[in-house]
Amino acid sequence: MLGRTPVIYLEVIRMPALTPLEIEILKKIKPTEDEYKEINNAYSILKNLLDERLTAHRIEADVSIQGSIAHDTWLSGDRDIDVFILFPENWSREDLETRGLGIILEVARTVGKYELRYAEHPYVRIWIGDVAADVVPALKISDPSRIKSAVDRTPYHTRFVNSKLTDELRDHVRLLKRFMKTIGVYGAEVKTRGFSGYVAELLIIKYGGFREVLEEASKWTIPVFINTVESKPDREVFKLLQSRYPDSVIYMPDPVDPARNVTASVGRRSLLTFILASRCYLDNPSEVFFEEPLQLSIDDILAKSARRCIVFLEYNLRDQLPPDVIWGEAWRTASTIGRILRNFDITVMDYSAWTNEKDVVLIGLELAECTLSTYKLYPGPCLGDPYERIDSFIQRHRDSSICLWIDNDGCLKALEPRKVTNSLDIIEERWLEYSVSPHLRTVKPVVRTTRPEDIRYLVDLGAGKWLSRFLVKTPTWMEKCTSSRD
Ligand code: CTP
Repeated sequence: MLGRTPVIYLEVIRMPALTPLEIEILKKIKPTEDEYKEINNAYSILKNLLDERLTAHRIEADVSIQGSIAHDTWLSGDRDIDVFILFPENWSREDLETRGLGIILEVARTVGKYELRYAEHPYVRIWIGDVAADVVPALKISDPSRIKSAVDRTPYHTRFVNSKLTDELRDHVRLLKRFMKTIGVYGAEVKTRGFSGYVAELLIIKYGGFREVLEEASKWTIPVFINTVESKPDREVFKLLQSRYPDSVIYMPDPVDPARNVTASVGRRSLLTFILASRCYLDNPSEVFFEEPLQLSIDDILAKSARRCIVFLEYNLRDQLPPDVIWGEAWRTASTIGRILRNFDITVMDYSAWTNEKDVVLIGLELAECTLSTYKLYPGPCLGDPYERIDSFIQRHRDSSICLWIDNDGCLKALEPRKVTNSLDIIEERWLEYSVSPHLRTVKPVVRTTRPEDIRYLVDLGAGKWLSRFLVKTPTWMEKCTSSRD
């Protein structure tokens, strides 16, 4: 043993370090002192007003701040806060929607600018200066597995996240959120079908850092299982989730209510985007993974759309609907169009949907071509097929076709002139067949193209960014996907 260096065992505490690039990004995305002051100020004004009204009505309820402001994981530039009023547990949903909402509306009227909104249940958005506060009535539940509405879990999330996150990890959450926003996978809403802020927080808590999350994600295969409930074995947790959410591609139990899959909203597009962007960032870290994608100028939009067949359907809605409902209907119709138009020989190569979340839905279609061939080929029965089928094919096509023949493989063929060769005319005519969702079926859509006046109109509607993404398609970060991995 003599002469050997003594081995000293040190407990290595793994601290997730940020790279110089990540530190630079963080400087830009971390809220400033002034932003903290503005947000805190807006919250205290609102809390005082709400407390005062609750006392006047002799209702015992707690007003608290929730979400990313309470977790301190918000990003610079954010001006929205979640304010919850927790009413007694024995209140019914009806009590919340009448008495609870009534108190919030009393305050909203004294403040001035507000909007009644609907998600799973109604809440009020109140503006205090530039800060938009979503004031949500919920119940003060003593056991999170007995919640009556999804919002009742939120205070438990705040408690859990704050018990786990250090200030350093909060910065890692900020980086992960910015990364997810840039690549277009942030937000559990129907609009995005991506990762919620709470999921970003849970991922950082689980894996211990921004790059650690990306390392894990870069190896994910579907279905992805991430166990956030250490006290329970993986098998038990996932069996329950899979039976409750058979269509999910990623499973992660909510630590405060393990029977809920917090990643149920994540769709296939978002999941592959996140996996691929993680791989590319780890291979080639760059600021492009954190930069807001740019909106093209009108001239660039016109140049990019030249010699392509791009069509927009503009639906003007009659009813006021919650954003998730409008997005759901827009995506449903958009994804149906390709199948319907295939029947008319129109190939939809790509589609997308956009809404101002008020009264306009746009569906963008990129077609293989705008003009169909003058003649359509009808393949018929072949040698060996029953003669009745051959006879009926001849009967059907003899008068209407310009040529009817037996090809070199012994099959009948007919060539017929098309009645309509302009794809746009077909799209305009057949609107009732593909406008499958209830609120898009009520009004005929306006068909727009990439003519300068149409493009200017769409940009003025606020759809410029969406339009730019739909035309460019290749995400900026994809230029960094140059790995030589096996
Ligand atoms: N929440 C949830 N599941 C979702 C979305 C939200 O449980 N799919 C709950 C979480 O408790 C979250 C709170 O609602 O903390 C507020 O969510 P939201 O306002 O959507 O986002 P933040 O987490 O506040 O993040 P940010 O504002 O930074 O986007």
